[in-house]
Amino acid sequence: MRRPEALDRVLDAARDFIADRVEAGTPPGDAARRIFDSLAGSAGVIAPGGAPPPPAYRYLPSALERARAAPEVSSLADAFAALEPELTWVWRSDSEEHGETFRDGHANAWLVGPTGLEQRSDVLVGASLLAPGIRYIDHHHPPEELYIVMSEGEWYREDRGWHAPGIGGVVYNPSDAVHAMRSGPEPLLALWLLPVGWKTGDFPRAPARDAHWMSRRPAGRSAGPKWIPDLM
Ligand SMILES: [Fe+2]
Repeated sequence: MRRPEALDRVLDAARDFIADRVEAGTPPGDAARRIFDSLAGSAGVIAPGGAPPPPAYRYLPSALERARAAPEVSSLADAFAALEPELTWVWRSDSEEHGETFRDGHANAWLVGPTGLEQRSDVLVGASLLAPGIRYIDHHHPPEELYIVMSEGEWYREDRGWHAPGIGGVVYNPSDAVHAMRSGPEPLLALWLLPVGWKTGDFPRAPARDAHWMSRRPAGRSAGPKWIPDLM
């Protein structure tokens, strides 16, 4: 399937952005190589648009305006702004359990993934938006993760504590590291990219028991096609 040009532009801008900032041969560099090697192959199925967005979506225009004005991320933000009308913004599926403030204060969109605009499971690319003053919940997942930081805000990793990468920063989370993020007085906007890639056999650290983690349903979560894994 042919990838829409607007999505292609975002993925190309993300690849160039990371290549400028992350050294090849390091763990984040290897993660980036797996992500973009997979994406360079054929595109997945392109999904139709969907449901109305969570309330936090109202902060997207101001977050995008700031990102587009920041030289470090302006070309990526321009490409993202062009793609954004095609995206479906969603809640984290367990957000009801974390209170109204969190539920209404965050929105996630999948660009590439099982429920993404481009539907595939070997690479996951998405965006997260936080309203001002929101702390995202601690979470972890088997694939490593790269964030492209497109706003002010702070990131947490269990072995590092909190830090503020600044607009244009890259955050790397190793496999299964507990991590989170939080916004200050301004909304937080970030792109995240995860190389799943296990089916290609180039993810030797992923234990076999995790090979189907994307289709595992946590206890107590209702079954059905609506359930999607909580990566973000
Ligand atoms: Fe994550």
